[in-house]
Amino acid sequence: MKGALTLILLCVLSAWAQIPDVTDVSVTCRTENELTFQWEVENSSYSYTLKTHGKDELNISSSETPVKVQVTSLSPGTKYIFTLYTVFGNAMSNGHIFSEVTVPSAVDSVSVITRSETEIKLQWNKVNNSNDYSYNLKYRNKEHTSISALPTDSTVEHTVESLSAGTEYFFTLYTVFENVTSRGYNFSNVTMPSNVENVMPKLNDTDMILQWNVVPNIDNNTYNYTLEYKDEKRDCINYIAERNEVTCHISDLNPGTNYSFTLYTEFADLRSTGFNFYQITTLSDITGVTVKRSQTSLKISWLKLNNNDIYNYTLQRLGEESEKHFTGSDTLTYTYSSLTPGTEHSFSLFTEVNNTRSKGYSFKNVTSLDCASFNWKVTNSSIEAAVNGCTYVTAQNSTGSGKNDTVDGNMVNLQDLYPGESYTVSLFYDLESEKLLQCSHRLTLVPNSVSHLRCKHHSGGYGLAVTWDYPNGVVNMVQVVVGKQSFNQSYNSEKPQQVEVKGLQAAQWYTVTATSFSGDTRSQTVSINCQTDPAGVIAGVLVFFILIIIICIGVFVWHRYGSAKHNKMPKPPVESKVPNKNNKYVQIPLDKFPEYFQNMSRDENKGFSEEYEDLSSVGKEQPSMAALLPENKDKNRFTNVLAYDSSRVHLSTNDEGDSDYINANYMPGYGNANRQYIAAQGPLPSTVNDFWRMVWEKRSQVIVMVTNCTESGRVKCEQYWPLDFMPRLYGHLLVTKKSEDTFPSWTLREFNVKNKTTSETRTVRHFHFTAWPDHGVPTGTEELIQFRGLIRQHIESSFSAGPTIVHCSAGVGRTGTLIALDVLLQQLDKEKEVGISAFVQQMRLSRPLMVQTESQYVFLHQCIMDTLQPKVVPKSEPLYENTDMIYVNAIALREYEKQC
Ligand SMILES: *[C@@H]1O[C@H](CO)[C@@H](O)[C@H](O)[C@H]1NC(C)=O
Ligand SMILES: *[C@@H]1O[C@H](CO)[C@@H](O)[C@H](O)[C@H]1NC(C)=O
Ligand SMILES: *[C@@H]1O[C@H](CO)[C@@H](O)[C@H](O)[C@H]1NC(C)=O
Ligand SMILES: *[C@@H]1O[C@H](CO)[C@@H](O)[C@H](O)[C@H]1NC(C)=O
Ligand SMILES: *[C@@H]1O[C@H](CO)[C@@H](O)[C@H](O)[C@H]1NC(C)=O
Ligand SMILES: *[C@@H]1O[C@H](CO)[C@@H](O)[C@H](O)[C@H]1NC(C)=O
Ligand SMILES: *[C@@H]1O[C@H](CO)[C@@H](O)[C@H](O)[C@H]1NC(C)=O
Ligand SMILES: *[C@@H]1O[C@H](CO)[C@@H](O)[C@H](O)[C@H]1NC(C)=O
Repeated sequence: MKGALTLILLCVLSAWAQIPDVTDVSVTCRTENELTFQWEVENSSYSYTLKTHGKDELNISSSETPVKVQVTSLSPGTKYIFTLYTVFGNAMSNGHIFSEVTVPSAVDSVSVITRSETEIKLQWNKVNNSNDYSYNLKYRNKEHTSISALPTDSTVEHTVESLSAGTEYFFTLYTVFENVTSRGYNFSNVTMPSNVENVMPKLNDTDMILQWNVVPNIDNNTYNYTLEYKDEKRDCINYIAERNEVTCHISDLNPGTNYSFTLYTEFADLRSTGFNFYQITTLSDITGVTVKRSQTSLKISWLKLNNNDIYNYTLQRLGEESEKHFTGSDTLTYTYSSLTPGTEHSFSLFTEVNNTRSKGYSFKNVTSLDCASFNWKVTNSSIEAAVNGCTYVTAQNSTGSGKNDTVDGNMVNLQDLYPGESYTVSLFYDLESEKLLQCSHRLTLVPNSVSHLRCKHHSGGYGLAVTWDYPNGVVNMVQVVVGKQSFNQSYNSEKPQQVEVKGLQAAQWYTVTATSFSGDTRSQTVSINCQTDPAGVIAGVLVFFILIIIICIGVFVWHRYGSAKHNKMPKPPVESKVPNKNNKYVQIPLDKFPEYFQNMSRDENKGFSEEYEDLSSVGKEQPSMAALLPENKDKNRFTNVLAYDSSRVHLSTNDEGDSDYINANYMPGYGNANRQYIAAQGPLPSTVNDFWRMVWEKRSQVIVMVTNCTESGRVKCEQYWPLDFMPRLYGHLLVTKKSEDTFPSWTLREFNVKNKTTSETRTVRHFHFTAWPDHGVPTGTEELIQFRGLIRQHIESSFSAGPTIVHCSAGVGRTGTLIALDVLLQQLDKEKEVGISAFVQQMRLSRPLMVQTESQYVFLHQCIMDTLQPKVVPKSEPLYENTDMIYVNAIALREYEKQC
């Protein structure tokens, strides 16, 4: 019923009006090949016809709303035109025309044409070779839209810019047609990594350890590195994460060669442009060179560097033009010969590879010496020689003790050695803090002569027992010669020092000599005259009487014609503790002295004159080389009073420019000591410091001064001690006057001497004799004898370590007189006899002009005389029994005063 009603209505309507078009068609699904449309149905009586341009038409009748229609087999990316008719019965609407596009295809492929650190250039073919499409590129939240090609090109090119180096990028590329986007085409690629910024090398001859920081990048990608050099390639994947460092160790390189390197950073299939750098391998030097020294040659040898044959070597000697070349396979030794002994030579040794030379190793060495070629001067206490090519000397005895000293000015000068000892003298050269032994030599010092040589009767008048005391020092053997007999007695501390000589004639005088030996070295010979026991003579009473008569006649003649000759004492002298090497100078027994003195004084001192004249040439042949050296010349107050080399006092030479010279000599004393006194000149302004240095170094504790600083307006001696009680510095020595006591004829002082370097302090006594008036003579001998007594008392009561220093102005006249007086008075005291001439002779062997004038010589005798008879001479009265003597001696004393 209802259907029939609707049909009637429709027929009425259609007859009444046009059939309407569908106007609202929407696309519900769009693919590359299909389009699905949809629209609302207005009247269920309608059906529809869809015409597609160039395709079959579709008839659609549906009672459902909305209507869905799928158009298939379309081409992608194409624009189609559709017409939709509404059909009712046989009637049809006018038709609704509309167009739609299908989804375009995606690109087939994308090629990456170029890549740099910041850009990637892409290229692809136009889709469908159509110019209607554009393209969109998306990567990392960025999008490039509407990329299109020139209509003439078949490909699209696009450069992606502002990228980060060494990073992987993921891209999606879309094709766009009429606002319809294709599905995306995905691909990825990478940018070029950056170069390493800097390489730090550690290298030696053959190896390099190269190190650099990893190349940073935004993704923290880990790169590989490749190092290329000289046709070789090496991957360095030695990545130390904690330090962000890469190290690359390359070895087996050539020394001294400049290598060119390129270091690439690698990421995926891409490497950086490459970092270029140069590095030169080092060329090491030899450092261990062996030198074999001889007197005239230096043999130089060394080992191959790194035990490798590739190195060549060049050896140079300073001052020599030509160089010596060695290839690696040579014997690496060269000997420089014909060199001068004791000379220093400098060398350089270079390593060479392919004409590259190392910096060079420099070294020095010195040729050795022949000790036997030097002229050694050996005394009983010293060893001296002029040498070259050494800077240091040692002398050692068998127990290893001895002396050492630096060698200044090519002079070896060893003092205070032990008499008779054998020393190994070694010369050294200081070369760069090393002491090189130049040569060694064995020397034996001259032994001291035996002392106290004496005889006793033996074998009932037909022999003598000779005895002696051993001197200080080493003596192995003593040779005693009596007449034609010679005895060698080796040293034995248990056996008495005695030789018994038999088979002599009775009542005969024999000369007995004794020489001590240390090895082959002999001392000076001591001799005495001994008589065999006259009691052994069986010549009988007759001979005895004849002798008496002869003696009587002798005595008669002596009394009658007494002359100087008579002072030769009838009794030959016995050996004395005052050195007496020459029997010409006699010892006078105490009880014979007044008589002897009178004899000598006769005829205006004829005896003294002759004896004194006799002494004038003693010792003068000895050299005084040191005193005449240019640097020492000015240290002498008088040109004719120079210190003999053999006995002069040597100062130590610690500082640059020190000289060991001082005008002073050691003097023998009583007994065996060779160095009991030092006779010195009065200091000059320039030698005051030297004088104190001598006092210190020789450990003197007594200075005897027998002059005033100024006499008759002339300076006799520099004022060398502080006038007041303020300390004064002399060189390193600080001298303080502690006390000063003035007496009529002398002044006594006490000094404190402090060594500023060591702070050691010593006391030195100063005995100053002031009683030589400006004009005239001393009133007598008594003051000087008393003065000497004071000194002797002090020396004996103290443990004086060093010699007593005695000086006046020149240090020979008054000085000699005072030393002689001191020694002779000791002899007189101990032996009851004196040998004045013998001792003066002895002193003159040590220093020239000792006891400078005849008047001083006479004065010395006078002193002995006055000591023997002190009570006879009243103190105040002038003076001696013999009135002649007074005048003679007054003149003598005046002269004496002038001389000193
Ligand atoms: C990047 O591009 C190069 C050059 O076209 C190509 O050889 C390489 O395979 C590409 N890399 C990737 C990951 O596609
Ligand atoms: C694409 O869409 C935009 C806005 O969405 C419009 O303005 C433009 O006309 C459209 N282009 C085409 C060819 O339909
Ligand atoms: C150089 O250095 C390397 C590594 O430190 C070492 O093995 C080699 O012995 C050295 N070569 C020389 C000649 O010093
Ligand atoms: C790279 O490393 C740094 C430090 O280790 C870190 O702060 C950063 O987040 C890392 N970046 C990426 C992309 O992983
Ligand atoms: C010396 O140089 C040549 C050429 O540059 C090279 O072939 C050779 O290996 C080098 N030799 C050494 C030891 O460096
Ligand atoms: C580094 O080299 C190794 C081995 O050749 C390789 O497996 C790796 O992928 C490389 N890494 C980079 C970042 O190129
Ligand atoms: C000199 O040569 C000696 C070996 O004769 C050696 O002991 C010394 O070290 C060398 N001195 C120097 C400075 O090379
Ligand atoms: C070493 O010297 C020889 C001869 O002069 C030369 O032929 C050679 O090439 C040199 N070797 C080196 C490594 O320089």
